[in-house]
Amino acid sequence: MLNNCKAVEIAKNIFWVGAVDWSLRNFHGYETSRGSSYNAYLILDEKVTLIDTVKIDFADEIISRISSVVDPAKIDVIISSHVEPDHSGTLKKISELAPNAEIITTNPNGLKGLTARYGNLNYKTVKAGDSISIGERTLQFVPTPMLHWPDSMVTYCPEEKILFSNDAFGEHLATSMKFDDENNLEIILAEAKKYYANILMPFGKQAQTALNALGSLEIKMIATGHGVIWRKNISKIIECYKYWSSDEVENRACIVFDSMWHSTEIIAQTITESFARKNIPAAYYDLKFNTLSDIVTDIFKSKYLVVGSPTINNQMMPTVAEFLNYIKGLRPLNHKGFAFGSYGWGGQSIGLVEEELKAAGVEIILDKIRIANLPTIEQLDEISKTICQNI
Ligand code: FEO
Repeated sequence: MLNNCKAVEIAKNIFWVGAVDWSLRNFHGYETSRGSSYNAYLILDEKVTLIDTVKIDFADEIISRISSVVDPAKIDVIISSHVEPDHSGTLKKISELAPNAEIITTNPNGLKGLTARYGNLNYKTVKAGDSISIGERTLQFVPTPMLHWPDSMVTYCPEEKILFSNDAFGEHLATSMKFDDENNLEIILAEAKKYYANILMPFGKQAQTALNALGSLEIKMIATGHGVIWRKNISKIIECYKYWSSDEVENRACIVFDSMWHSTEIIAQTITESFARKNIPAAYYDLKFNTLSDIVTDIFKSKYLVVGSPTINNQMMPTVAEFLNYIKGLRPLNHKGFAFGSYGWGGQSIGLVEEELKAAGVEIILDKIRIANLPTIEQLDEISKTICQNI
């Protein structure tokens, strides 16, 4: 597609050459209501260096932006921080335009992943502590395995004090303004938390290891792989990552359920109000009306997770199964909860929900609540009393 996209200079001779995906609403299942961006950076030095590429759909856009400041054939070094195709998708196309470029990646996982996807290109592998000189600037490599793929790494430029952080510290946000201080901080931090919860939650330990490795660096800019570039609120986002990656949870509850004919819904309402009566704020999520990405962002730091489903064909409802499957993968830490639901006959769903909660690492603190047909006022009062006495 013919376009006239330009590079954006973010520091002297360092350019953002990425793409803004304004219309993205789903990133492999993660609901991205504010779109996203795939950030790539071009450094004009003695060796022209490109840090990451973009999703293949935006190949023309990145090539146009690079071409606005330099002939792509002059690129000497391409740093591939992460194999996932939102960052590496245009690697082959750009390497064809820059046949002399050396592609830097981690060993063995970056090398394996890139070779599998793009064949034998001009790869050079690096490990922790390795650095290269590109002229006036040095680039130091810090592998960050499982943050969030085995191949992931970040790159630090000591002369500029810029950390090129790829997936870390980013958020899915499409914006025409590149820096944090040019955007609404509340929205950025909310999206960064959503990003952490949905992408990085299982990797808290690895995040803490990476934060320790980066702790000694003086950073004046974090050039992320998605969303805004941090230059004003650097300590804020680092503090957020320290907290998000910790085991700490807040005294809050999330009640998540689906309902067929309102019986499980009525129980959910009673449970929500019972937590509130104990001065524990509780959020109420009917799976018919809320996205998994948003629910998970709230569950992430909530101490209590209570999940309900009626029984359908001897199973839990498919929406609840999908939710629990997602939670099992994300493995929230230090959560407590229980299962509830109504049934017409059989009532197997509530036991199945409890088993799935256990499999997700949730500590079961109350016996499952099983109500046949429609709950009575007396049964709801009993549920409320049990919660108030035992939570
Ligand atoms: Fe932004 Fe893991 O890719």
